[in-house]
Formats: sequence, structure tokens, C-alpha cells
Amino acid sequence: MPRTPLIAGNWKMYTTPEDARDLARAIRDGAAGVEGVDILVCPPFTSLAAVAEELAGTPLALGAQNMYYEETGAFTGEISPLMLAALGVSSVLVGHSERRQHFGEKNETLNRKVKAALAHGLKPILCVGETLAEREAGASWKEVVRGQVRAGLEGLDAADLGPVAIAYEPVWAIGTGKTATPAAAQEAHAMIREALAETFGAQAAEERRILYGGSVKPDNVRELMAEVDVDGALVGGASLKAETFLPIIKFRA
Ligand code: 13P
Repeated sequence: MPRTPLIAGNWKMYTTPEDARDLARAIRDGAAGVEGVDILVCPPFTSLAAVAEELAGTPLALGAQNMYYEETGAFTGEISPLMLAALGVSSVLVGHSERRQHFGEKNETLNRKVKAALAHGLKPILCVGETLAEREAGASWKEVVRGQVRAGLEGLDAADLGPVAIAYEPVWAIGTGKTATPAAAQEAHAMIREALAETFGAQAAEERRILYGGSVKPDNVRELMAEVDVDGALVGGASLKAETFLPIIKFRA
């Protein structure tokens, strides 16, 4: 079975509920009739309910950008998988590099989040990627990325992996306008798939979607998506306007 491409928008800390509603509507209307591509938008927590209303009854899926791994409890400021599921959220980003960088999220915590998401029927998108310093240190960046994949999925079996996707986002390419070349993205994705195969077997690795993220734009999406192991895109800046997100969704057109 070929992997269906997934184009996901990460709205980061942008949009009030009203902005989010407008953006969701424009994406929903502009994406009508697009086939063979799964579409996901990940607004901030405070806009999830508004976007859920706009996307109800459409094939567009709703994702969150983060969550805590406990269901309930004295965890001031946190949001649980139960709360997300109740809003109609179906996917959740786990371990985005901005979470790792600014909020100190470590692989062990992220592993707990992946497991909590799965336990509540949410599809985790585990984000991995090396920093510029790690990339410039030589071949060891590969071990960093492989380590993030292995640690994030630790304790899972191939049978658990169905809902899981991986997003490879080299930190040096996020918000910088410096996209990885298609060949560099392919190299990293192939390596990630190999790491998945070592732990979970060839079939589970073959079935996994591996998204690329980092300055994906309408003018580079097509060449990135042409690589065999690039199964989608996780889009930041260009997902905040329908004019730039829609051409990315329609990369085949
Ligand atoms: P940009 O597309 O703005 O580089 O952001 C990428 C990203 O971090 C998506 O999660």
C-alpha cells in the first residue's frame, strides 16, 4: 500500500479564535475536492474549539501542538489527552523542536506523551531533528536523530505503531528560509525509516509516514514530495495563510 501524503499546518503561537476560524474556513473551502492527500491543521489550544466547528463534517483533521501525558490532576497550565479528544482533536504533535528547545522537553517525557496519545486514540506525530551545531559537528547528527526516534518510541511494538507518524524537522531549517535540499531530506528520511525497520521490522517502517518540516513553501514542496521517503510536510509559516497553504496541499496540481 503506498503511503497517503499528509500535509499538516502547525500554526504555532499565532491566531486568536477569530483569526483561526477565518483561516480554517479559507483552508476548508479552498481544499474542497482535493483527493489523495490527508490534511491536518494544528491551531493553538485556545483556537481548537473554533476550528473544530469549522472543520466538522469535512475530511480535514484537527491536531494539537502539544499535550501532557496525564489524564487529569494537579498540573496547572497543562492540557490532557482526554481534553483534546473531547474537542474532536485526532492528532497531536509531540516533541516539536521548539518544545525541546524552549521548554526543556526530553526524550523520556516525549515517549510518555506518545504512549498517552495512543492510549487515548490520538495519532502522535513525533518530531525529531538536529540543531545547526549538531549538524556541523559531523556525522554524529545522524545518531542524534536516530536516538530521538528510538527514545520517542521506546517500549512500543510494531502493532502499536499504526497511528504514529514521524516529522523530520532540522532545526536549522525552521523559520529560516533555509530548506533542506530534497536530497538532504531524503537522506535523513531514509535513515529514519531504516532506524524504524531495525526496531519494528520492515513492514512497520514501510507503512510509517515521515513528514519533512522546515521552510516548506509553495515553490519547494513539489521537489521535496518527489523524494521516495518524504511522505508529507509539516508547515509552519506558510500554513498561516490560505494563499500559501493551499498550493502546498495541491502540490500535485
Ligand atoms: P516553518 O515552515 O516556518 O519553517 O516551520 C516549520 C515548523 O516548525 C513546522 O512545525
